[in-house]
Amino acid sequence: MKIDGLLSKYAEMLEEIDPALADLWGNNHDHNRKSKLDITPELVANFAAFEMGGLGFEFGNDFPDRKTIPDGAPRPVVADPDFDAGYGARIREVLPRSLRHLSRFAFADPMQIAELVRWDGIGGGRSVSVQLETGPVRVSHHTLRVAGRAYEMRASHRVWPKSLLEIGGGHGRFLRDVAICAPDASLYYCDLPFNLLIAAGYLARKFPGQVNLVWTQEDRFKPEARITLIAPWRLGDLPENVEICCNFLSFQHMSAANLGYYSEILDRRNVGALFHMNRDKALHGGEIDLDQAPFNQSFELVFDQEIGGFVRAHRRGGAAASTTAVSIRMQYLRRRVG
Ligand SMILES: C[S@@+](CC[C@H](N)C(=O)[O-])C[C@H]1O[C@@H](n2cnc3c(N)ncnc32)[C@H](O)[C@@H]1O
Repeated sequence: MKIDGLLSKYAEMLEEIDPALADLWGNNHDHNRKSKLDITPELVANFAAFEMGGLGFEFGNDFPDRKTIPDGAPRPVVADPDFDAGYGARIREVLPRSLRHLSRFAFADPMQIAELVRWDGIGGGRSVSVQLETGPVRVSHHTLRVAGRAYEMRASHRVWPKSLLEIGGGHGRFLRDVAICAPDASLYYCDLPFNLLIAAGYLARKFPGQVNLVWTQEDRFKPEARITLIAPWRLGDLPENVEICCNFLSFQHMSAANLGYYSEILDRRNVGALFHMNRDKALHGGEIDLDQAPFNQSFELVFDQEIGGFVRAHRRGGAAASTTAVSIRMQYLRRRVG
């Protein structure tokens, strides 16, 4: 898949968007900001070289020396040996915990773990080399933070799924991880347009010839495609009975209408299970609390664990004196029967 071809297809996709419908599926703030970014072929081909937020990378974690998501042109990552030394020390502190977490799964495999934590040089800003029992590997704060997701999903679902849909997949790292661990699975990815573009560049480079794009009304699903990247307005054409839908830190940013749009499609396509990690409380009027999400009507909770917590002083727009206890939950839900 050529980057120039991707960019013109992205332009076609943007042309096709119906603004009225975008209110339903869209996080319009995110979409408006990202559609104004100065997108170059280099950015799509090698976004490791740029400071990019909103793709699963976080300012403060993955770019700890930067505080804000740049508007306009994403800035190149600038070499800084002093900063890198501190970053390396922090990574070496986090690494043993990540490896312990991954190794405790009954199905864990040391070579696979090395691959799950590996920074692949395409996405994710800074990286450092570390020594694992399988040999040296480059890792980043981001790869260590997200490496456990595929194993957690497999543990909850009890088998590697044969088909999986991720909504809000960022730059595609989780899909890459599942593709490595479950080589026979059919994988579907959905996100807002800018992320579709970046993930297409990333996944096509990782899995050449195996990625199909369903972005415009003319695009067709191909049964033989291993990975399909689907625009939100084409998600209703997803093949039926996809085993599981996954979402990481993305449902938490959506409005009730937006979650309703996706929930209705999961019902229509008879998706069997839902695995997600999301904040449980809305922080402003454009979001809803997790227990109010429409998918709770057709899915029942099987597993629920707090995986992170913090307290926000107040909800945006709320009374300054009121406080909200917020935690990040990891949940596995199964489609209700009857
Ligand atoms: C914080 S990022 C998380 C990315 C990735 N899941 C991760 O955890 O690494 C939020 C993601 O949700 C996506 N997103 C936000 N609103 C969305 C919507 N309405 N439909 C699909 N994706 C959406 C964003 O584009 C972004 O990729």
